[in-house]
This record gives sequence, structure tokens and C-alpha cells, in this order.
Amino acid sequence: KSCVAALVAVLCGVSASVMAAEGEPFVIKFAHVVADDTPKGKGALLFQKLVHERLAGKVKVEVYPNSTLVGDAEEMQALLNNEVQILAPSLSKFGKYTKKLQVFDLPFLFDDEAAVQRFQKREMSRELLRSMADSGIYGLAYWNNGLKQLSATTALRLPADAAGLAFRVQPSSVLEAQFNAVGAKPVVLPFAEVYKSLQAGVVQGAENPWSNIASQNMHKVQPFITESNHGVLNYMLVTSSEFWMSMPFAVRSELEGIILEVTQAVNREAAALNQRDRERILASGSSKLIALTPEQRQAWREKMMPVWQSYESEIGADVIRAALTVNR
Ligand code: LMR
Repeated sequence: KSCVAALVAVLCGVSASVMAAEGEPFVIKFAHVVADDTPKGKGALLFQKLVHERLAGKVKVEVYPNSTLVGDAEEMQALLNNEVQILAPSLSKFGKYTKKLQVFDLPFLFDDEAAVQRFQKREMSRELLRSMADSGIYGLAYWNNGLKQLSATTALRLPADAAGLAFRVQPSSVLEAQFNAVGAKPVVLPFAEVYKSLQAGVVQGAENPWSNIASQNMHKVQPFITESNHGVLNYMLVTSSEFWMSMPFAVRSELEGIILEVTQAVNREAAALNQRDRERILASGSSKLIALTPEQRQAWREKMMPVWQSYESEIGADVIRAALTVNR
């Protein structure tokens, strides 16, 4: 590093380790755990493309999909160590840094994907982007995937059908509580291990949006998919405050403009991608779709809803109330 870069680093209060060497572009390693042909995967590639078009020579983006650089168990630490510079973990994976984002995990909280979208635009969600500032994590945007469906080796129509089955969950105690509430056994596993764990019978079920089921071929090992839409799987695009602030203001502003554009594209297209993958799965004939009657869905809701109460003090009643106002 040149003396100038080191001096700038000191003056700006950032460590020299996050600075690009003088004249070299800032390198943004964007790692994620899903396939390219998913809402997040496509968003990462669009971000790379727009940065290449508008900031060539100043910023270079490298995209690492499918847990090829880091998996979901290590990625946040890798971000804080400046080994990667942008991630988009699901909102269920930030429990170590803030409890407030657990609001997104509460089962049956949002009536539909449109309600989640509205919440993500509200002031409370803007505040939640800053909820991990003390840990040096800077929230840039919310990216949608979609609502989760329950898949299993047996047909799940009523909560009792899930009793005794092991379900893979993301690392979220709310999601564990949600499966405990129906007498099932939650097992926390990294995303990269879900397919083989289902195939080997380590777990018998899982909860995912259609795009994740299809892109990991989970439907090939899950003969039943219940269209439950019981919870949300969306993402927060995050960087480290230290890395972000190490870039000149003009570069950062250009990047933030690009992120806004990409966020709009991802959030416009996520539902259609999930719909496409739903159709592909059904056309493959490998899984039977279980559509719930309103009474059956209500039975799941009643069993799982006490989880809201259990987590109200951790999440904050104000956060939950703000989320509930977006349902019509
Ligand atoms: C999961 O672990 O199921 C998801 O968070 C994966 C993803 O990034 O969509």
C-alpha cells in the first residue's frame, strides 16, 4: 500500500486492510449460497454487470454462487474479516447480530408477499437496515425471494402430519420454535447440505420458496409439497461499514444508485421466478402438490402463532406491530 493510501486510511478512520491499493479498483467479492438462476443469483449478476458498465477501473465485482467461496455458516465472519465485501443472507441468518430481524421469521405474520414488500418500504424496515451497526454490519437493501412452502416425504395437510418428522431449518431460533410448535424436530443445517440431507434421510422435510426447491432439485427427494405460504424468505444485502466507508463518496454513491436499480429489478421479478419454478416442479411430476383448504391452513396458523408471543420481547412489540399494519 502506498503512503498516501495508508494516510487516507488513518484520516478516515478505516484500517489499511480494507483499502484498495492506489490506482487499483476496489474489489467486491459477492458471495452467496444459491444458484445463479434464482432471484438472488440473478441480482448478484446484474449488480456485477452494471458495476462493470458504470464503474470499470474503479470497482470490480466478483460473484461466487452456490457456497463456492463461503457457506452460510461462515459468511458473516468472512464479511467482518473483509474476505468478502457483499453478502445477501436470508433474514433468518442474522440472529447473532440482532434479534429484531426475527420479525421476518414469525410464521403467518404477513398475509402475502405484497404485504412483505410494503413492510420493507416502511420506516421500521429502514431502521432495521441499521440494526447491526454496532457489529460493523451495514444493511444496503432488502431483496425478495418469496414465501416458503413445506416439503416432506409424507403429505402434510394438518399440523399433526408433521409430528415426529425432522425438518431442516436455517439458523433461527424462531424457525426452531415454529417446528417445535407442531411436534416436529427442527435440525439446523447449512443450505449447501440440504439436498443431500434430504436424500440421505437425515431430515424428512424442509421449508423453502419454490425457487430454492427447484434450483437444488429438492423436489426429486421430496414427494410432497404443501403450498403453505407460511413464512418469508427474503434477504438483506449487507456489507461491512468499514469496507463501505473506505470507498470515496462518489464511488459509494454510484454503487448505491446501482443497488437501488438492482433491488427494484430483483423485487419486481422474484415472484415470477418462483411461479416459473413452481410450474417446472409440478410439470416434472416428482412431487405432489398439497393445496390446503382454508380450514387446514387455519389449523397450522393456530398451532404456530403462539411463537409470536414467545418472541415478542426479543423482537420488540413495536417492530411486530409495525409489521402487522401492512396486512390489509
Ligand atoms: C436457506 O438457507 O434456506 C436460504 O437462506 C438460502 C438462500 O440464500 O436462499
